[in-house]
Amino acid sequence: MTAILDGWLTCLVCGQHLTQASGAMICPDGHSYDIAKQGYVNLLGHAPPRNADTAAMLDARARFLGHGLYDQVADAIVDAVRGRTRIVDVGAGTGYYLAHVLDELPEAHGLATDVSVAAAKRAARAHPRAGAIVADTWAGLPIRDGAADAVMCVFAPRNAQEFARILQPGGTLVVAVPTPLHLKELRERHHLLDVAADKVEGVIGAFPGWPSSVWTEEYQIGLDQEQASDLIAMGPNAFHHSPDDVAPGPCTVSVTVLRFTRPLG
Ligand SMILES: C[S@@+](CC[C@H](N)C(=O)[O-])C[C@H]1O[C@@H](n2cnc3c(N)ncnc32)[C@H](O)[C@@H]1O
Ligand SMILES: [Zn+2]
Repeated sequence: MTAILDGWLTCLVCGQHLTQASGAMICPDGHSYDIAKQGYVNLLGHAPPRNADTAAMLDARARFLGHGLYDQVADAIVDAVRGRTRIVDVGAGTGYYLAHVLDELPEAHGLATDVSVAAAKRAARAHPRAGAIVADTWAGLPIRDGAADAVMCVFAPRNAQEFARILQPGGTLVVAVPTPLHLKELRERHHLLDVAADKVEGVIGAFPGWPSSVWTEEYQIGLDQEQASDLIAMGPNAFHHSPDDVAPGPCTVSVTVLRFTRPLG
């Protein structure tokens, strides 16, 4: 299970490469990071922030994604990284999208990162070819320069400088963001947080000079009561809302996928 962590990671203290040795990841100077029994490594270096996804949010996310209602989005991400073999999923949550990608790309290996320990626990079990670490995207990723030929970031925080650093020149970055129409019926019914209208422009602006293609996956789904309730419980609204009387009904999925290429120069 643990060899899958070799080749990706750097030491939080000195920045040298970590390699696996008897239940831990160790740098040449002897700084050591235990591999938890669930298979992940905590490389956070500080206490998890208050907005890290909780175990209850992760459970709701796993239940909801298990119904396959976002598989059209997952398939679009597979198409965007096809041909790539070293894939980092930043803010991976349960590891659902990374597992979907690795299922479709038998030559590929993956690394899931998330600031939430509960997420890393789940992601470490998501796929036999995926490792998982706890890491804060904002603080800088404990990942080697150019270690990835693809980075994916699905509904999660972005750090353009770090994505550029860990990607090989010519590598692929895939970002998925909700459009303002995403889950609009659920948002209206339950007074949930809005999606900013300028998200896509913000992402494009963060990668100046990177060739990109941009498209939107938009379709209708029907939600039963549990699915609607889990959709609320798995997202940022979980911190603001208690879904007492969630109603079933039709709902729009609307997700923009942005595929960038890291310039060679
Ligand atoms: C909306 S969820 C998306 C999870 C997963 N990509 C998916 O779509 O199923 C956002 C994820 O980003 C993680 N996250 C939030 N802030 C983060 C940070 N600073 N660094 C790394 N992950 C972060 C959360 O813990 C959560 O798992
Ligand atoms: Zn070290």
